[in-house]
Amino acid sequence: MNLMPHNHQMFAVAGIYSGREDNIFWRRSDRTIEAAGAASLGVGDVTMLDDTTIHSVTNPIAKMTCAIHVYGGDFFNPGSPRSEWDHESLAELPWNIEKVKALFRDAEARFVSSGKSLHI
Ligand SMILES: [Fe+2]
Repeated sequence: MNLMPHNHQMFAVAGIYSGREDNIFWRRSDRTIEAAGAASLGVGDVTMLDDTTIHSVTNPIAKMTCAIHVYGGDFFNPGSPRSEWDHESLAELPWNIEKVKALFRDAEARFVSSGKSLHI
């Protein structure tokens, strides 16, 4: 699963307890964003994102990644509008939570149809 670059408009803390996730951290440039760093997180790793962080997330393995996330506000209705960036063009777009929910539904359906079980 790949989740496009996005911001949260609030701090976030994530602790991984199964699988792995590769984060690319982005910074704003003239009219788009550019890669500014990366972190590969595995079991026992914790990452802290401040309220200006833009990141994209990839699960690089054929195992479900599980994590506990804590957000510093209302994830679904933040005080400031959230953005996402198109994977290919890196154009900034309004955050579309329904699109993200569909991405997670599709990823879960692929996982379930693969016959793999979720053993932590
Ligand atoms: Fe995120």
